[in-house]
Amino acid sequence: MSTSSSSQPRAAITAMGHFLPEKRLTNADLEQIVDTDDEWIRTRTGIEERRILDDPDKATAYMASQAAEELFQKHDIDPATIDLIIVATITPDMEFPSTACLVQDSIGAQNAWGFDLAAACSGFLFALTNGASFIESGRAKRVLVIGADTMSAITDYEDRSTCILFGDAAGAVLLEPHDTYGLQDTVHYSDGAHADLLTLPAGGSLNPASHETVDQRLHYLKQDGRPVFRHAVTGMADVCVEIMERNDLTGDDVDFLVPHQANKRIIDATANRMGLSSDKVMLNIHRYGNTTAATVPLCLNDWQAELKPGHNLVLTTFGGGLTWGASYLTWAYDGAEYDS
Ligand code: COA
Repeated sequence: MSTSSSSQPRAAITAMGHFLPEKRLTNADLEQIVDTDDEWIRTRTGIEERRILDDPDKATAYMASQAAEELFQKHDIDPATIDLIIVATITPDMEFPSTACLVQDSIGAQNAWGFDLAAACSGFLFALTNGASFIESGRAKRVLVIGADTMSAITDYEDRSTCILFGDAAGAVLLEPHDTYGLQDTVHYSDGAHADLLTLPAGGSLNPASHETVDQRLHYLKQDGRPVFRHAVTGMADVCVEIMERNDLTGDDVDFLVPHQANKRIIDATANRMGLSSDKVMLNIHRYGNTTAATVPLCLNDWQAELKPGHNLVLTTFGGGLTWGASYLTWAYDGAEYDS
């Protein structure tokens, strides 16, 4: 699916917030749990540590709410003015009610409606496009888009091929109408033919929870890493080149690449194809690992001080589904004013 919205009002990111749990899970910690080593993890993935939500009473809705609260406080925004909340997640607190409903209550957004969006690691980008459509059509004035995942809840800490990859976090952005800046173009893809490469087999309507599904550890994420890697390298680079060509952008025109943080080698290959130097690539995988729907808003939060009005950003993701995409966004405010 491709969209280009030249005649409509833009949907711009006008505020941001994020949440990271305190607990760090380092590569050295993982050496004590599975047969792995720091050198292997760093060279194959770029990851050094991840954050883990270590409180049995808290989950994705808590982290998403914390990210929203930070956004409200930093930008002096009244939660009652929010029209819509979209939470991108594959680790909702429960199947229903939606995480968006739990967040709506916890942040006091009494005038908002909301829903969850499940597109694995592409969740935030798909949610951003959805949220932007409500702004562009005039159906909403303030949309909160949150990417939040408690990956530790579905990670098998007996499987060394996946447990080294994931961490927990949340990032939130506010979308509002803007005359000039905002989401300029999006290109999204889904390919269910490869659904089996990255999946959570049990707990849904096909394999409801049973003693057998638990015994077989089917409530944990499964990934066939090598083919996913191959699809991700070509998918992410191709879609970024596609969005650059559609918008007549060269590497010189792009101020920042904001890539999903699954593997540093995938990010490097994408930046190379786009002709970008490393200083234009937002990279924090070494500190947080793969936080699924949270990686892109976490990057934006980390780089907030460097973002200036008019900067050209290419956001890109790849994940289970398979799902992937890129968005071309022009930045709307001076991030340095809100960085602390
Ligand atoms: N520590 C040490 N060795 C490990 C290991 C670990 N944590 N995990 C796997 N290995 C071993 C394998 O058993 C294999 O050994 P063998 O050659 O004796 O069979 C060897 O390392 C290579 O495994 P492989 O799976 O080919 O490694 P890789 O280079 O593909 O890296 C990933 C694995 C998961 C890091 C990589 O495939 C990847 O990043 N995949 C894509 C992730 C992604 O983009 N997901 C989509 C979004 S979530």
